[in-house]
Amino acid sequence: MSRSHRSVYRCTECGAEYPKWVGRCEGCGAWNTVAEEAVGRAGGATARRSARSHRRPAEPPIRLSEVKAESLRRWTTGLNEFDFVLGGGVVPGSLTLVGGEPGIGKSTLLLQCSARLEQAGVPTLYVSGEESAEQVRLRADRLGGAAGQVRILPEVQVEAIEATAAAIGAQVVVVDSIQTTYTEELEGAPGNVGQVRECAARLMRFAKESGAAVLLVGHVTRGGVIAGPKTLEHIADTVLYFEGETSHDYRVLRAVKNRFGSVDEVGVFEMTGAGLTPVGNPSATFLAGRDTAVPGSAVTAVMEGSRPMLIEIQALAVQSGFGTPQRVATGLDHRRLAVLLAVLERRAGLRFHDLDVFVNVTGGMRLVEPASDLGVVAALCSAVHDRPVPPDALFVGEVGLGGEVRPTAALERRFAEAERLGFRTVFLSARSRVGGQIPATPVAHVADLARWLAA
Ligand code: TYD
Ligand code: MG
Repeated sequence: MSRSHRSVYRCTECGAEYPKWVGRCEGCGAWNTVAEEAVGRAGGATARRSARSHRRPAEPPIRLSEVKAESLRRWTTGLNEFDFVLGGGVVPGSLTLVGGEPGIGKSTLLLQCSARLEQAGVPTLYVSGEESAEQVRLRADRLGGAAGQVRILPEVQVEAIEATAAAIGAQVVVVDSIQTTYTEELEGAPGNVGQVRECAARLMRFAKESGAAVLLVGHVTRGGVIAGPKTLEHIADTVLYFEGETSHDYRVLRAVKNRFGSVDEVGVFEMTGAGLTPVGNPSATFLAGRDTAVPGSAVTAVMEGSRPMLIEIQALAVQSGFGTPQRVATGLDHRRLAVLLAVLERRAGLRFHDLDVFVNVTGGMRLVEPASDLGVVAALCSAVHDRPVPPDALFVGEVGLGGEVRPTAALERRFAEAERLGFRTVFLSARSRVGGQIPATPVAHVADLARWLAA
């Protein structure tokens, strides 16, 4: 059998290779993720390239001290939140992957960035494999400004993309999306694991060799990871996720990997009728519509990367009908809610077992930090007692299974943000040491807080 029509089976999750189909990947243990993949002529492009590279005389290695320490150049888009998440702007020669669910605004974000870069004199190419030039034009019309100046290339073949980018001397190349691209060197349809990986690897080499920054749009699967092999995230220098509830206008851009900056930094945007606008003051924006007189509303401070953000939590508890009471959590893990309800029931004597409980985090944000536990607990206590919490109180602290309130890191920065927004007291663990300007109300146990809020 000639090698040209050989096929392999590859896990779409971890990229492990098998000579025949298996139901469960031995590499990562996932079921039904192994799919057939045709490999290219002569054993694939990678094999051919590596054979070639063995022949090339290697450059003599130099000592680290002789490496020129060029300060990292960056192109700023002026879209502040985007530049901030990248660590100061787009790095020449880098490969950035922007993942997110359909309709969240990836194309809008990258078209806006392209327009700003083009305007700043950085030649930019926007490659659209998903939408026609007319469709992208319609989006550009909504965005207005310089978006019309962006050069658009409706193309899906990676060789053609590279050739065009090189021909026009593009310094920034946006590929929307990596799942639509394919390379001639491999058989198999676009979107197939091998194609996605090979195209990303090729574009990475293109970025490194040409010095252009390449930004790839990547779709996410239902599980929330970028579709295609996990190796895609390993290849990229920077991996960003664009998240949010499509029913809300706020969007959060989060760096989960960044070779040129810190991870876990977030940028907040608002989707408006004319594109995305950076939200420079997220806390104030999230708290803007808050009704402090309504029971069940409490504010907590979470750290998003190095930035503190104040977020409102709303809880509602109502008598349930027959059957199992409902627990609905939006923006919060429902298992975390179940734990906190159990702790309140058992350690503070509050009764939730015949109540339907709804918890909502406003602005479409997600609470992941345990420090927000005390905020959820305060909202729940307030809801069940039907008494509003003091309007200028902030709640930070992790709640343990014994009902104890545990200390939280980065308190100074959370205090500073709370003070800036006019909060007058912070409920926090009795074990926290803090020298903030706002008076702190130490809480040792959730039962103390429940009593305090009921009084
Ligand atoms: P889009 O960038 O196409 O999302 P993605 O590329 O992630 O699939 O944006 C999708 C949504 O954004 C769409 O529902 C329309 C909305 N939108 C606005 O609200 N305002 C705008 O100015 C633009 C361009 C889009
Ligand atoms: Mg899109």
